[in-house]
Amino acid sequence: MKGAMVNLGVLVSGSGSNLQAIIDNIEAQRLDARIKIVISNVPGVFALERAKKHGLPAMVISHKEFRKREDFDQKLVEALQTHEVELVILAGYMRLLTPIFLRAFPMRVMNIHPALLPSFPGTHVWQAEVDYGVKFAGCTVHFVDEGTDTGPIIIQAVVPVYDEDTAENLQARILKQEHKIFSQAIQLYAEGRLEIQGRRVLTKDFSKTPDFFMTNPPAEGFER
Ligand code: GRF
Repeated sequence: MKGAMVNLGVLVSGSGSNLQAIIDNIEAQRLDARIKIVISNVPGVFALERAKKHGLPAMVISHKEFRKREDFDQKLVEALQTHEVELVILAGYMRLLTPIFLRAFPMRVMNIHPALLPSFPGTHVWQAEVDYGVKFAGCTVHFVDEGTDTGPIIIQAVVPVYDEDTAENLQARILKQEHKIFSQAIQLYAEGRLEIQGRRVLTKDFSKTPDFFMTNPPAEGFER
């Protein structure tokens, strides 16, 4: 471990498999972070069980109890600040953030999106990718700005899309990569290796793979 400990607040709305991957990486001491609070906007989701099982503070703040989006976000901000959160992690959090939230955590909110942005923003991306016929898909960790899935990209992972793929098995293939790159992005942040220049995020000191490429279908006979 090389970084300073980063205090995380994790926002969830569902199963929380990305939360689980982050917990596992912290417990395995691969990640210089501690989860100060897990907040779900939906009561009873499995992500809350996961937090409880690992002894992490967790709470529900239901958006349904607020008439205005801004009031709900203000409440979230207060809860996160009370728990001394530095970096907010959107791990399957299914609400858009208002400027009130983003101003409280400027370039300190990370989201995972299950597609190679800027392609396929929004929801239901896996079926859209299969239907479109793309040969590669993947996932993106990015800082959150005021647009939907438009913020500066930190890291992406690529997976192939095969002819026989369904939305379901493509989703599973992508999710496996999400579990790796979300923690990787947080660790780069903890190590102070992310530098934001406009809408680009530059990463300090990593070993490059020159001429790295992939083709799908494989480039049989045209590898060189
Ligand atoms: C993931 O596909 C993530 O990319 C998207 O929501 C899903 C969350 O899954 N933002 P989980 O709750 O982490 O299992």
